[in-house]
Amino acid sequence: MKARGTVRVPGDKSISHRALICAAVASGRSTITNLLRSADVESTASVLRLLGVSIPALADEVIVDGVGIGGFREPGLPLQCGNSGTTARMIAGVVAASPFATRLEGDPSLSRRPMRRVTEPLTAMGARIEFERDDGLPMTVYGGDLSGIAWNTRASSAQTKSAILFAGLLGGVSVTVREARRSRDHTERMLASVGVPLTVTETSVSLTPIAEIEPLRLTVPADPSSAAYLTALGALADEGEVRIPGVCVNPTRTGFLTALTRMGGSVRFIEKRKVAGEETATVVVAPRKLHGIRVGADEVPAMIDELPLLACVAAASGVDLDVSGAEELRVKESDRISAVVSNLRATGAQAEERRDGFRIAAGRRPLRGRVTTHGDHRIAMAFGVIGWVDGNDIEVDNRDCVDISYPTFWSDVAALVQ
Ligand code: S3P
Repeated sequence: MKARGTVRVPGDKSISHRALICAAVASGRSTITNLLRSADVESTASVLRLLGVSIPALADEVIVDGVGIGGFREPGLPLQCGNSGTTARMIAGVVAASPFATRLEGDPSLSRRPMRRVTEPLTAMGARIEFERDDGLPMTVYGGDLSGIAWNTRASSAQTKSAILFAGLLGGVSVTVREARRSRDHTERMLASVGVPLTVTETSVSLTPIAEIEPLRLTVPADPSSAAYLTALGALADEGEVRIPGVCVNPTRTGFLTALTRMGGSVRFIEKRKVAGEETATVVVAPRKLHGIRVGADEVPAMIDELPLLACVAAASGVDLDVSGAEELRVKESDRISAVVSNLRATGAQAEERRDGFRIAAGRRPLRGRVTTHGDHRIAMAFGVIGWVDGNDIEVDNRDCVDISYPTFWSDVAALVQ
């Protein structure tokens, strides 16, 4: 397979969610360009609309008139978060200081995912939260007067960290979040860019509330998680070179590219720029023979969403991969440890499941078979990419689920393959 060309991938999903939330509570008119138009971001937009924020249909440029801190209205309906854990968890923090009840609902996958990680700190701050069963959606947040906290998160979770930061900002109280390993820091960067006083260390962030935040003028950089699929294609090709411009290369997101480089891959960052508090670059990838690596807990947060892809890259190149400290994968859109291992086995690779990760055994053979995505976009795309490697023949049971984060995935990949 040859993979050659330049493809612009859509805007970053994490930054798009946060941009809509910050614009919603800003004082004044925000302009957001290159916002990701995908099902998950639609969930955040529609939830904010029900809270009284006028957000137009998502387009390349979106203009939002913020309602200001304290300006939400009581939603008359449950807030549908669809498949989006980021929407559900961050919005729980966003409404925690609002003096009304907010019911959050999700699709079957999201309803199985743990919410306690956000509801515990929000409850400690003074919100009341009711579940119908266990700690999954639906849940109802009864917001009100909050008090400040210093919270140590158990899992490195940017969603939890962000929920606490938004609750502090909107509740007018100081908060500190400490995490053992730093999760993605887009919320901190964006809040700092609109004037919120923050103190950030390697393992903690403290926020001091302010009465108003400035509107955003933001161009969302390209999503490094979406770009990862195209870089994998470039690395696995026999010939060619793949270029992806304007990718967010925030170090809390580039773990996959670091791992690919450690495997012997050729990855370069050129045309580096700073865009609204985030570093961006054109990512250039060329084919190389790869070798096996081990990935441990310290490296996991910066590539949490790319681990299924890393597993597929290892299997398609016939090299060893040992991943540990990644138990968070079990509570993503699907149980990604089980989904990766069972699907790799179904296509003929040797893979072994562990409580907190997996092991792929070296040995090159064509990978052929049908992949069960469980509706998980990242499983669909990871296997979609290795389906292009010469000799492989992989059928993905649900190709449409890529709409969650990267609606143009199949055509972007096809555009590079020659
Ligand atoms: C995200 C954080 C990560 C990631 C998810 C997006 C975010 O989840 O897996 O796709 O935008 O904050 P956790 O916070 O649960 O680690």
